[in-house]
Amino acid sequence: MARPHIEPFCDRDVHFKNMKLPGFSSGMSYKMLSLDNDTGACSMTVQLAGGYQQPPGFSWSEMEMIVIEGELQVGEKVCRKGHYFYIPAGYAMPMMTTQQGCLVLMMYNTGEPSLEPSTQHHALAQVDLFHNIDSYMDLPWAMGNVTKPSVAAGCLIKLLNYNPISHAMTFLYCMTPAFKQDNISYHDCAEESYHLWGTSWMMQFGEVPTGGYFWRPAYINHGAFASEYGCIALGRVDSKLFNYFHYNPWSTPIENQNRAGARLYQRDPLLYKWAISYDHNHPHGPEDFEQTMQRRGDSGHEHDNEHHSDGTRHDHWHGHNHHNPDSPHHHD
Ligand SMILES: [Fe+2]
Repeated sequence: MARPHIEPFCDRDVHFKNMKLPGFSSGMSYKMLSLDNDTGACSMTVQLAGGYQQPPGFSWSEMEMIVIEGELQVGEKVCRKGHYFYIPAGYAMPMMTTQQGCLVLMMYNTGEPSLEPSTQHHALAQVDLFHNIDSYMDLPWAMGNVTKPSVAAGCLIKLLNYNPISHAMTFLYCMTPAFKQDNISYHDCAEESYHLWGTSWMMQFGEVPTGGYFWRPAYINHGAFASEYGCIALGRVDSKLFNYFHYNPWSTPIENQNRAGARLYQRDPLLYKWAISYDHNHPHGPEDFEQTMQRRGDSGHEHDNEHHSDGTRHDHWHGHNHHNPDSPHHHD
């Protein structure tokens, strides 16, 4: 996720633009919050006009979205503010409509925004990963100490998505009124936040109001923090979140990175020495045997070849069969 540092930024300070990419209906407008120029991955505030109708279809990119204001009808389900979706690439969503219009935060994680009209999931979609929840109504707030050392007491979270390999997370967080944290933080991961409601303050970047946003690459100092009346925000990290705390407002990202390396050396010296020796390094990183080992029954083509989500049978619309030994796909 090679996005540049965007901070401070507030979407209320810029105008909506009409979405003109193929597949999307008219009545969709967006404010670009951050964009990866290499992949097209991006985060956007999206306004869907009253009467907007988006036909069923899937995106070629993994995406997440949360309703900020208004009501979005997704198939039969009425989704109100706080409703969160994690949608794997190729997962066909039903018709989406809004009667009165709504504001939605949309995050395309692996490619540019796309909509392929379809009522069926793509054959390679990881359909089991799909999930959605009314995060305001149906999840309790938990202590913010998912990682240690932790943020100060009074910063609470609701975990929305977690990748057990990379430890990437999507979460709601809130700062309670009169929240304060006096130290300075940086991390090994990129960090993203969108303020759904309320204002917080940071020593380096000032106030982050409703609609405030940042995409912050690793090792950039942030904090101290405060929030007078409290705030609620959607946050994401793209890999494991570890809090490096300190009290030096002048340290640079390079110095912070060096300190993170020094801490790794002090904590995991054998792993550190192994990782920096060059005789075994590979451009794509070392092998994880659990991801590459042969499995019994491994088809090499891991999709549900029996059923569609609507209960009908798999019909090989993606152009292969199971009977031709020369086919590039086999299910034996
Ligand atoms: Fe942070």
